[in-house]
Amino acid sequence: MEQYIIKGGNPLVGEVEIGGAKNAALGILAASVMTSEPVVIENLPDVRDTAVLIQAMESVGTRVERIDRHTVRINASGIDNYTIDDGYIKKIRASYYMLGALLGRFNQANVALPGGCNIGSRPIDQHLKGFRALGVKVEVSRGMICAGCDNLVGSHIYMDVVTVGATINVMLAATLAAGKTIIENAAKEPHVVDVANFLNSMGANIKGAGTDVIRIKGVEKLHGTTYSIIPDQIEAGTFMFAAAITKGDVMIKNVIPKHLESISAKLIEIGCQIEEFDDCLRVVATKRLSSTHVKTLPYPGFPTDMQPQIATTLALSEGTSIVTESIFENRFKYVGELQRMGANIKVEGNTAIIEGVDSFSGAEISAPDLRAGAALVLAALVAEGITIIDDIIYIERGYEDFPEKLSLLGAVIEKVDSERDIQKFKLKVG
Ligand code: EPZ
Repeated sequence: MEQYIIKGGNPLVGEVEIGGAKNAALGILAASVMTSEPVVIENLPDVRDTAVLIQAMESVGTRVERIDRHTVRINASGIDNYTIDDGYIKKIRASYYMLGALLGRFNQANVALPGGCNIGSRPIDQHLKGFRALGVKVEVSRGMICAGCDNLVGSHIYMDVVTVGATINVMLAATLAAGKTIIENAAKEPHVVDVANFLNSMGANIKGAGTDVIRIKGVEKLHGTTYSIIPDQIEAGTFMFAAAITKGDVMIKNVIPKHLESISAKLIEIGCQIEEFDDCLRVVATKRLSSTHVKTLPYPGFPTDMQPQIATTLALSEGTSIVTESIFENRFKYVGELQRMGANIKVEGNTAIIEGVDSFSGAEISAPDLRAGAALVLAALVAEGITIIDDIIYIERGYEDFPEKLSLLGAVIEKVDSERDIQKFKLKVG
């Protein structure tokens, strides 16, 4: 089983290049099957989630040619079936975007029902509500969502909760529905906007993405396009906190600073210096950071995907901090692992009360989910001694070359998969 092994203590210094946004890429890959013409997608992150979704697309007859590590050419003219089985959904929930994409183009789709996951129950009632509003007959039986209609008809849909997934999924189907669709209480995340921009580059007519009201005029068909995915807001935020927690000085390149405003604001509040440029920003931390209160919210609020990273950083800050998780009901599973490294955190419901400690000590820990795993790497970077992290498959779902990018910044981290490698690492680092 592959693990990360990390020797803590080095401040991160230097430059890091941020990749394409995973959560935009998943919606965009699914949307690419909505035309029979070739589509080229650039700045695609090479992570496990995108690899699995590409396999799901190929399973229904899509041809995907990898032009280089971050560019693919997609040809969906040969799609010959409309069923995405649970093998793909079990690996990544976002395979459910194929529902909206296949419904939009073919008026039918069968996709396995995604279960809950490590961060919560994650229902999809709003997705199904949106499809039904567009005239789709949706049945859920034996773990499969079977959806179909004679033709999609635009509708006025009000989301009961702000949901990224349902906003994107319904937007996909509505793009090719007859007439107008309005999605109210829509999610405003940068990746929602990127999927809308991608669809518009294919000839869709979508206005208002990035606000809470998205207006879609259905079109007859979509054409091919070449499109480059926006930088990953959460990968960038993770490296910003890595610089902060290690008291480093890191230039984070290929970002959109506007997407990072809530993250930058919190880092400045707890004592970091941040310098913004057009497509990069510099994070410097020279002294012990201070405490704060933070509550995760839909964009433009502080992202839930950054909650483990800020909580880990605050666990070493001066004073008492409060972190409230308002999006998912089970996103503190990493706290037990941090406590084994010396953190003083108490979780009550959806709130973590954090008493800053002076230091962490290295330990053998496991990544409970994607972003929690990344946060545990941050903890290990600053812990005294050596930390070994298990279940790194979660981390590699969303971070491309994470150990390599951290090593280039001065971190002492390697991916190992045997006791022998561990011993070699320990001998090397002393
Ligand atoms: C997306 O998940 C992201 N995943 C998540 O990132 C991110 O944490 C989340 O949005 C919130 O920003 C992808 O984009 C692939 P939601 P999604 O629908 O779409 C409830 C990562 O780390 N809800 O916005 O599944 C839901 O239970 C991942 O990259 C319903 O009640 O999230 C949650 O409480 C983790 N009914 C809230 O809405 C529904 O039909 C937000 O969920 C759908 C959602």
